Order: sequence, then structure tokens, then C-alpha cells
Amino acid sequence: MKSYAAVDLGPLHDFVEFTPASEEFRADVMAGLALPQKQLAAKYFYDARGSRLFDRICELPEYYPTRTETAILRDHAGAFRTLIGPHASLIEFGSGSSSKVRVLLDTLESIAAYVPVDISREHLLASAKELAEAYPDLRVLPVCADYTRPFEIPTIPGERARVGFFPGSTIGNFTHEEAVRFLRAAAIDLGTDNGLLIGVDMPKDAGILHAAYNDTAGVTAAFNKNILRRINDELGGDFDLDAFEHDARWVAEASRIEMHLVSRNRQRVHVGGRSFGFAAGESIHTENSHKYDVGGFHTLAARAGWRAVSHWVDADRLFSIHYLRVA
Ligand SMILES: C[S@@+](CC[C@H](N)C(=O)[O-])C[C@H]1O[C@@H](n2cnc3c(N)ncnc32)[C@H](O)[C@@H]1O
Repeated sequence: MKSYAAVDLGPLHDFVEFTPASEEFRADVMAGLALPQKQLAAKYFYDARGSRLFDRICELPEYYPTRTETAILRDHAGAFRTLIGPHASLIEFGSGSSSKVRVLLDTLESIAAYVPVDISREHLLASAKELAEAYPDLRVLPVCADYTRPFEIPTIPGERARVGFFPGSTIGNFTHEEAVRFLRAAAIDLGTDNGLLIGVDMPKDAGILHAAYNDTAGVTAAFNKNILRRINDELGGDFDLDAFEHDARWVAEASRIEMHLVSRNRQRVHVGGRSFGFAAGESIHTENSHKYDVGGFHTLAARAGWRAVSHWVDADRLFSIHYLRVA
């Protein structure tokens, strides 16, 4: 549903709301828990608490993606300035705390607007406000939406080009088919002649990956369990969080990390008037994080109608950033 809410972000800013209804969350949870391999969508990690936990993950010593991607952005800021040019608007999909975009905001010439799009409403608004205060001349137009569903990017006066920004390897959370669908929709939303700057995590030593998703401080475990906490708080579920164990596994044949919540014992859980049985050791699959090498990602992008213009990889070949244009 579209509405313009009265959120005070200052005179240059509007807030556009396509916030998903809680009924969608309920329907997805009921359907996912009824599958033979129980499954919940990763987008449901993110309420205000989940977003804060994700920010803490980004600062963990084991979690190489954030610092590596930020370093690539800083190292090649001049190239982005040339490729993107002046008076562009930046549309960030899954903007979270809008931290990485600051490298671009500090680099690009006269930005028409910054449009952070995120499902986590409270966190989106707080981050947009913080950014608007740090960049007082920037037009910040936050959009709360599920970017896997139709939504509209606001009209931006004076916009010469529209560039999508999709960092964090969030693309890896989609299956290949979902990723193609998302990239096709983004091509339509951004329009022809426009670009997409996208961060993509790469396959690497299984030990590095395992450490990154099973941190010793247990922050990723708390993030994973936040989905159960949300079901309890928002849908009246009775999950015992201590009865489930965080498990992140590297599945080499699918080139992905899978996150699961594994039931420690045989138990029944109730949500919305229904009961779901768990055997000891049975899991709920909560997230995929696919890793693509450069060629593999370019093939995926081409299937969705995007042409690879340039890419950048750090010296240890941990992470890549790609600039794509509509083919
Ligand atoms: C992996 S985090 C990345 C955050 C930030 N862009 C970064 O690079 O650090 C994914 C972000 O996407 C948002 N998100 C996940 N699924 C979404 C969806 N379907 N629609 C909109 N936002 C989504 C989350 O709320 C979260 O802020």
C-alpha cells in the first residue's frame, strides 16, 4: 500500500511507504513451517532489533565482507565518479544503516537524490534521518518496501541518470531464479541507460566462510534466532529460543552458505492456532548466501538483461563489486 506518511525528515525529504502488511508475514510463516524442509525467508530477520544485530555482525573480526567491500569502494571511488557522472540519483536496495553509500556521497558530483529502500521501517527512518543530518544538502527519500514486490521509486526533479546500489552481497540471499527476477525488475525500475553498482561475495576457503557465519561472540546466532523472536512477538508463537541451535554450513556443490535453526529435541511449536512438530535435529532453513566468481555473476546478470561494464576485486579475491548497465 502506498502512502506518504508524516515523518519529519526535514524540508527536502519525503517518506514513501509500501510497508508489507503483517498478514504477509503470517501467511509466509505458516506456509514455510508446513514444508517438508521447514523454511523461513531471510527478509524476516529484519525488524529494528534484527537490523541492529546485522550492524553488529558487520563489525565482527570474522566478518570480512563489510570491511572488504568498503575498502574496494574507497580504493575505486574515482572510477565510480567517472562512470556515474553528475546529477545522478542513487537508489539503494536494502540500505540498512546507509553506511557504505557515504563513500559514494563523498565522491559523486551533485547528486539529485538518495533513495534508501528497506523493509526494516524503524531502522530505515532512523538511518535516513542520520544521513540527512550528516549531508544537509542531500535530498533523502526513504522508501519502506519489500523490493521483491512491486513498488515505485519517487519522481526526482533534476535527475540525469538513475543508478542502483546493491551492496552487502544481499543478491546472494536469493536463489539464482529469484536473483534473475530481482535484477530484471531492477532494470525496469531504474530504466534503460542507467546503471547498477552491486557487491558480490566470492567463493573462498571454507574455513574463512565458516568463521564469518559462526562468530565466536554468538551475534550471528542471535540474528538467526531473531526470526523466531519475531514470530513469538508478532504472531503469538511459542518458540523456545533455547531449544534451537544456530548452524551455518558451507554447501560447496551449491556454492552457498546455508543458515539453519536446528531443533535440539523433539518438540511441538504453536503459531496462529496451528501446531508444528519438530524431530530432534530437524532444521528450519533461514538463509542462503550464494557466492559467485566473476564469470558466474556475469552469466547471472546477462540472464536478467544486464551487461557487465567493469568490476573490481580486492587483492585476496574475497569480494567483488560490479558496475552493470542495461544491455
Ligand atoms: C545484508 S543487509 C545489507 C545492508 C547494507 N546494504 C550493507 O551493505 O551493509 C540486507 C539489508 O536488506 C534489507 N532487506 C532484506 N530483504 C529485503 C527485502 N525483501 N526488501 C527490502 N529490504 C530488504 C534488510 O533490512 C537489510 O537492511
